[in-house]
Amino acid sequence: MAVNDKKLTALDVMLDQPVIPVIVLNEVAHAVPMARALVAGGIRMLEITLRTPVALDCMRVIADEVPEAVVGAGTIRNVADAKAALAAGARFGVSPGYTSAIGKTCQDIGLPLLPGIATGSEIMQAQEDGYTELKFFPAMQAGGPNLLKAWAGPFADIKFCPTGGVSPENAPTLLALPNVVVVGGSWLTPATVMARGEWAEITEMAAEACKLAR
Ligand code: 3PG
Repeated sequence: MAVNDKKLTALDVMLDQPVIPVIVLNEVAHAVPMARALVAGGIRMLEITLRTPVALDCMRVIADEVPEAVVGAGTIRNVADAKAALAAGARFGVSPGYTSAIGKTCQDIGLPLLPGIATGSEIMQAQEDGYTELKFFPAMQAGGPNLLKAWAGPFADIKFCPTGGVSPENAPTLLALPNVVVVGGSWLTPATVMARGEWAEITEMAAEACKLAR
């Protein structure tokens, strides 16, 4: 798929690789080498969380300088976040929870959204607003694989991206579930590894993550 030539959907983002990296960047200088390291390992859908003051600048430089990567914005908590992320070059958004205001804004501005949910009621609200691919957050803390199995009954048409407490050890169990398309996790971009500039290590972890079966 030539991802830079087409309008993405949330499902495109989920299907591209088995793991969506949840990235916290503290320095703009880390953004481009980090993105290149992940792309070299086979991961191009990058969720840059809006948790640091430099997050939007990091999105801008990756969008400008790493065309092989697809920049996404994580931690979208309100309408303003969604609009700022789009303006900074984000091509998809991820939210830790769900409000209809965020869901409808993302539809209006054309930003594919992976909305976060943790309960049946939130799934129903998101689906009512047109979303059938959802992030389950915080996945391992809120019920993990057992909750996903329970949801497969009433919500058989929903596909999930469990995120929160996911690791290389428990990812295979999650990815084996029929309603899980992809998992999210921060383990591919540890702050310590980025601070040391050990980009080859990130490439190696990304390549390992791409081997996960689903
Ligand atoms: C998130 O922001 O989605 C989570 O904090 C990622 O969770 P993890 O750090 O447990 O992977």
